[in-house]
Amino acid sequence: MPTVLLTGAAGYIGSHTWLALQSAGFEVVGLDDFSNSSARVLDRLKELGGRTPVFERASVTDAAALDGVFSRHRIDAVVHFAAFKAVGESTAQPLSYYANNVGGLVSTCEAMRRHGVKTMVFSSSATVYGEPKYLPYDEVHPLAAMNVYGRTKLFGEQILRDLEASDPAWKVAWLRYFNPVGAHESGRIGEDPRGTPNNLMPYVTQVAVGRREFLQVFGGDYDTPDGTGVRDYLHVMDLAEGHVAALRHLLEQRASATVNLGTGSGTSVLQLVAAFERASGRPIPYRIVERRPGDLPAFWADATLARELLGWQARRDLAAMCADSWRWQSRNPTGYD
Ligand code: UD1
Repeated sequence: MPTVLLTGAAGYIGSHTWLALQSAGFEVVGLDDFSNSSARVLDRLKELGGRTPVFERASVTDAAALDGVFSRHRIDAVVHFAAFKAVGESTAQPLSYYANNVGGLVSTCEAMRRHGVKTMVFSSSATVYGEPKYLPYDEVHPLAAMNVYGRTKLFGEQILRDLEASDPAWKVAWLRYFNPVGAHESGRIGEDPRGTPNNLMPYVTQVAVGRREFLQVFGGDYDTPDGTGVRDYLHVMDLAEGHVAALRHLLEQRASATVNLGTGSGTSVLQLVAAFERASGRPIPYRIVERRPGDLPAFWADATLARELLGWQARRDLAAMCADSWRWQSRNPTGYD
């Protein structure tokens, strides 16, 4: 079976994809610098996977370290997760975002080229679509980033398009994620943000477990059914399995692809809160506050192409997303620490 290098392997999506790839029979080499993750993930992956994970501690911006990794392992493809992802922070620290997200992508591709590896799955985001011209977003919707983080994803996509055009041996899957939530069914790995969570679900789970007093709902006057923001939440294990499907497509069809990974339906903040209360049996106190600057009212995916091209579709519903997020948070109230 092919060996896959996962950059950002200890992160939220990386760790879940690691398990999904192993279940599908792939060999995995994980790489992470722990700049936004915990080494304890590796113990949990060992426990869940039944073997010691093959792991390299390095930054994707370190060319010499990457050369070492490619020399020690016979890599067939790279799934490139390693990146920073906080919108507010990206505005305050643009250089660190460009260095890590764009610079790290370039150095990873250079190392791949030096070692003859030309197959990559790239973590992009629905944020590259910008203000909706129409909904749902399909893959031909115009692109327009709204902040520094979004630009790092847009530039990353473009760099890989230029690379593929320069050498057709490169095969790339551009995966545009919608809003991943949930955790592995075991409750042993999950999302563990540092500091105050920026995203909705980890904030909700921290309220449920008593780490935060109440949820602030950012805006109650949007033009949506209940006035709160609407997003396409998908279970992180479905997302992980989407990577397996994309990788198989690249390796078997030898064809690049740009694909949305979402469920195809939208859920409001208050609908998510209600579903979480049902799944956890805990009340989630909330207050409706001002809109968060830069937030879009509503967006969700057209998930048709993923089904037709990759044979993938999300299988886990909102109740499962909430139940699994809660299992993880309630059994690990302070995350991995
Ligand atoms: C955010 C980023 C996006 C990034 C994604 C993944 C912004 C503007 N967008 O997406 O670029 O790709 O995270 O990291 O930051 N909400 C609350 N209270 C909270 C948190 C969120 O009401 O405490 C609401 C938001 O207003 C939104 C929804 O919940 O309507 C989802 O928010 P969030 O989880 O932050 O995801 P996005 O904003 O979609």
